[in-house]
Amino acid sequence: MIKQNGNTIHLMGKNISYVLTVKNGDLLNYHFGKRIADEDYSARDDKDTYGVGFATNMRSLDVMAHDYPAYGRTDLRSGAYELLNSFGNTLSETTVTGIHISDGCPSIPGMPSLFSAGRGMTAEITLTDEIARITIKLFYTVFDEYDVIARSAVITNLSDSDIILSKAYSASLDVPYQDMDMIYFSGSWGKERELQKTPVRQGLRIALENNRGGSGHQLNPFAMLATHGATEETGEVYGFSLIYSGNHSTTAEVEQFSGLIRVLQGISPAGFNWTLAPGDSFYTPQSVIAYSAEGVGALSRTYHDVYRSHLMRSTWTNKNRPLLLNNWEGTYFDFTEEKLIALAEKAKEVGLDLFVLDDGWFGKRNSDNCSLGDWIVNKKKLPSGLDGLADKINKLGLKFGLWFEPEMVNRDSELYRKHPDWAITVNEREPVEIRHQLILDLSKDEVCEYIIDAISAVLSSANIEYVKWDMNRQMTDMPHPGYNHRYTLGFYKIMSAITERFPNILFEGCSAGGGRFDPGVLAYMPQIWTSDNSDAISRLKIQYSTTMCYPVYSVSTHVSASPNHQTNRATTLKARADTAYAGTFGYELDLTALSEDELNEIKGQIAFDRHLQALIREGDLFRLENPYEDNYCSWEIVSKDRSHVFLYACRILFKQHTYDRRIRLRGLDPDATYIDADGKKYSGSLLMHRGIDIPYPWGDFATAAIELKRM
Ligand code: GLA
Repeated sequence: MIKQNGNTIHLMGKNISYVLTVKNGDLLNYHFGKRIADEDYSARDDKDTYGVGFATNMRSLDVMAHDYPAYGRTDLRSGAYELLNSFGNTLSETTVTGIHISDGCPSIPGMPSLFSAGRGMTAEITLTDEIARITIKLFYTVFDEYDVIARSAVITNLSDSDIILSKAYSASLDVPYQDMDMIYFSGSWGKERELQKTPVRQGLRIALENNRGGSGHQLNPFAMLATHGATEETGEVYGFSLIYSGNHSTTAEVEQFSGLIRVLQGISPAGFNWTLAPGDSFYTPQSVIAYSAEGVGALSRTYHDVYRSHLMRSTWTNKNRPLLLNNWEGTYFDFTEEKLIALAEKAKEVGLDLFVLDDGWFGKRNSDNCSLGDWIVNKKKLPSGLDGLADKINKLGLKFGLWFEPEMVNRDSELYRKHPDWAITVNEREPVEIRHQLILDLSKDEVCEYIIDAISAVLSSANIEYVKWDMNRQMTDMPHPGYNHRYTLGFYKIMSAITERFPNILFEGCSAGGGRFDPGVLAYMPQIWTSDNSDAISRLKIQYSTTMCYPVYSVSTHVSASPNHQTNRATTLKARADTAYAGTFGYELDLTALSEDELNEIKGQIAFDRHLQALIREGDLFRLENPYEDNYCSWEIVSKDRSHVFLYACRILFKQHTYDRRIRLRGLDPDATYIDADGKKYSGSLLMHRGIDIPYPWGDFATAAIELKRM
């Protein structure tokens, strides 16, 4: 709901108010937090008056919460945008010149954003700088059902000459001062989205910036500003999630007098320059800002609900996904058709639904040094071709899926020999190869068209029902400033064309593990490979923090071999599966090398996971024990009607007399009776207030997976 009351624009979500006032033409943020009464707040003489700052001859914005500020006039903090105007300076100052409120959500040309599905309201506020001759349209979308505000901006050049944008954030928000921490997610290959926390203090500008091409392993485009000591259930938390897959930036800085904490989120300004010809507009991606007065857990559940209902557009979003076997860690490049069929037979025998053929099926690819770009089946390895292989797999009663890396090319490929200029290269410089590969230049239409056609041809040539879309390198040699954004627009163009052309195929995102786990990819692909590190103990932290923003069922989780190929750690088959249930479940190991006992255990795991699928896909997540702080990790998923519960718990290391704690569940019906698989009954109040003892097996890496149903 959005109401305009005089010079106040009041956006109301389920429990929140986002209140903007227009004072002297400035767009100011009066309040963002728990719901307040609907009044005209613009005339109030609260502490947020002008003039406390340094300017005496005019109003000063330096201590004000301007909602899309510019640096350099009466505000010397970081601005939300910067442009070189036709006078040759970068000054800008805006006045509100239009307010328009409408139903639904705006779409952003060329980029994914929240869709309306018949809900939501949007305020479009126009700011004008008469001297620089630009307009900035700010979009604010709110839903009655959720505590989020989705923001984006469009900057238009009204002058007669070019304007150069060097910074265009999606949103700026000034949060009233409290003792707060910035919580963010850093990492590397095999250690994605590690939870980090740093206090927000005056004088130290926090810049969470990724300039490596994709959204990246190193920093996820999601951060939270939380009151110090906030927990899963307590504290005020603001979330900032950018729907974008390229270079991104989230910054925070504290104002000198009022202590306002200014957070900016959007495209990273590093290496960014965008020329706006007269009449041209620049569209920013969308930033989804959430608020919780009840800790991090509630904020996560908000993101999960919003993204499941208003971001993820795949026809698979609300369906159970096929349980799969992926051959990568079972065979790597070393496979034959016979070997694949043998694996698929075992997959069928244990009860799986889908067999996925990973890297190595095309060109002459037997290692990672050639053939990317040549999407033509290798008949030496696969004499029946893809259609023949898919047919054989289908006859076994399984679906067939395939790996691609559409954005890449090896120098040793037919494609590169024919079109060397299609790879990103800069003049006479030797291009930098990573994993022996170069990136195709997605800023060129003809390259995008080639990729769309080449991938479509393969997908039409055989009964392929699943695609793993990989991207295995970082971006170097960017030909000009702003290039990364042009590439990202090209990426969205091919991803939307292919997913629209093949709406029934289940697409899974991937980038050297979980290097592109972001809402931009999620808009098209309902699940994303979380990390190449599928060691159950490493996955505790990775999955725990990935779900801070992303829905549990978008987190792709596989049971792989023990000892693990990345960590060499040995864990039981039970521990690996128990940890993987919270996600889109599958196996990635050589099933033909397992014993009868192990195969039987896997049959049981698959049957168990089938019970859980709808719950994991739609339920509410509660994180109970934090592996970043503890020797324990546990989480719980509860169906919206509170009738079905999945509890996972892990004791990482065994110690004599560890005094395993009882786990108290959350989100249940206290008056109901729940029953576990052994027929043991518990009242909801017992589960929540007394808690239950976990039957950990003896030894390290001990896990339990417990299903409870309301009687
Ligand atoms: C990446 C992916 C892996 C696998 C390989 C294949 O590393 O993350 O899962 O697909 O590429 O080369």
